[in-house]
Amino acid sequence: MSYDLIVIGSGPGGYVCAIRAAQLGLKVACVEGRETLGGTCLNVGCIPSKALLHATHQLHEAEHNFEQMGLMGGKPKPDWKKMLGYKDDVIGQNTKGIEFLFKKNKVDWIKGWASIPAPGKVKVGEETHEAKKIVIASGSEVSPLKGVEVDEKVIVSSTGALELGKIPKKMVVIGAGVIGLELGSVFSRLGAEVTVIEYLDRILPGTDDEVARSFQKLLIKQGLKFVLGAAVQSASATKTKAKLGYKLRKDDSEHEIEADTVLLATGRRPFTDGLGLDALGVKMTERGQIATDAHYKTSIDGVYAIGDAIEGPMLAHKAEDEGMAVAEILAGQAGHVNYGVIPGVIYTWPEVAYVGETEATLKEAGRAYKVGKFNFMGNGRAKANFAADGFVKILADAKTDRILGAHIIGPYAGDLIHEVCVAMEFGASAEDLARTCHAHPTYSEAVREAALACGDGAIHA
Ligand code: NAI
Repeated sequence: MSYDLIVIGSGPGGYVCAIRAAQLGLKVACVEGRETLGGTCLNVGCIPSKALLHATHQLHEAEHNFEQMGLMGGKPKPDWKKMLGYKDDVIGQNTKGIEFLFKKNKVDWIKGWASIPAPGKVKVGEETHEAKKIVIASGSEVSPLKGVEVDEKVIVSSTGALELGKIPKKMVVIGAGVIGLELGSVFSRLGAEVTVIEYLDRILPGTDDEVARSFQKLLIKQGLKFVLGAAVQSASATKTKAKLGYKLRKDDSEHEIEADTVLLATGRRPFTDGLGLDALGVKMTERGQIATDAHYKTSIDGVYAIGDAIEGPMLAHKAEDEGMAVAEILAGQAGHVNYGVIPGVIYTWPEVAYVGETEATLKEAGRAYKVGKFNFMGNGRAKANFAADGFVKILADAKTDRILGAHIIGPYAGDLIHEVCVAMEFGASAEDLARTCHAHPTYSEAVREAALACGDGAIHA
């Protein structure tokens, strides 16, 4: 078969690219080797983990807040098998949804694993397809950690953690990044004793320091334990138990910890195996990413790449935006991604969300900024809903008042952040946000109050 565009990989980057290109009139196919569409995100990542976070948050609410609201009836008991069934249903609905969208938009799904034997050619199994353009959206895989061998039973990656045979009594998480804290929360809420071991002296590297500190305190209150400044050196597993060795960086002392389950969450790396990029002569970065120019073009004519396989944050929505942008570029339009306004969200409770600059990056750049902060304690809705932990922090240019970044820890922070994203896209000032009427009583009033705090002051602080 011959196509205008063949997209390799059907994760959020690939499937969005394929659909947008088809909408713009190109003849498109998408190659996917998994049994279902949607890539890591829909099958073993974002979506299933959010189902488990949702279910266990409901459990947490029932255990901690129901009685106070006059909802009696005792503590619900988690049925892990049933919960996994619910998670699998959610995956099924989402992956089938993409299949439906492919049919609706006339995108052909070529089943199998692709390689690129030559520019303009994509080989899947025994068949070679012709394509005027090729977009690689092959995603990422778990980065291995020396001394820790993942068996997906006792020592698991996020994939195995979503399929555990039972809820562990003791779990050790290696890495206090996004995966470690989200899945650590899930199992802690389900009753596991969770210890997170992190190499750095703080959790969530790269996020706002104040948010990370508050977040860690709240997680400790929820029962998670942390060992910071610790380098994991080894892990050995029997059929049911694991032993982990780590060294504290401050004094080089060596320690051991046992667990029923170890979750390795120390990062991911681009997945490009089997594509034949070496033979094709595709230039890679030092970090093993596919090198691209500003228009997602690789060093080979007609071959493009997006998402986790290239530079930038490994986020589904960053991949989606790149997918849309490259489709538009290939269709002769002006596709574009604003990398200054890509939000990040951690879907724990409370949620953490951020966009733009942090105080650290602004200080480093020597830029004068002001801070407007508002605690959810002053938000009526949050208080009524037992959700008053956390705050909104808006960073604005000291002179022009233009919003430079926002950092939220609190209820539905992942949704609240988007009004700041839109404001930033339009180059808004904190005053613009502060002058926008926000419905009462909503959590979003906390965002407005933080914007007010950049000026003459918040009302409810
Ligand atoms: P991460 O990069 O977010 O965090 C890894 C953590 O492991 C870091 O804090 C790092 O300092 C620590 N670490 C590294 N080596 C270590 C060692 N030897 N011992 C102890 N700690 C060590 O990586 P994570 O959580 O695995 O996530 C992978 C990717 O998936 C990230 O890019 C993340 O953004 C993405 N993701 C995003 C989600 C979201 O947007 N909500 C959810 C899940 C994953």
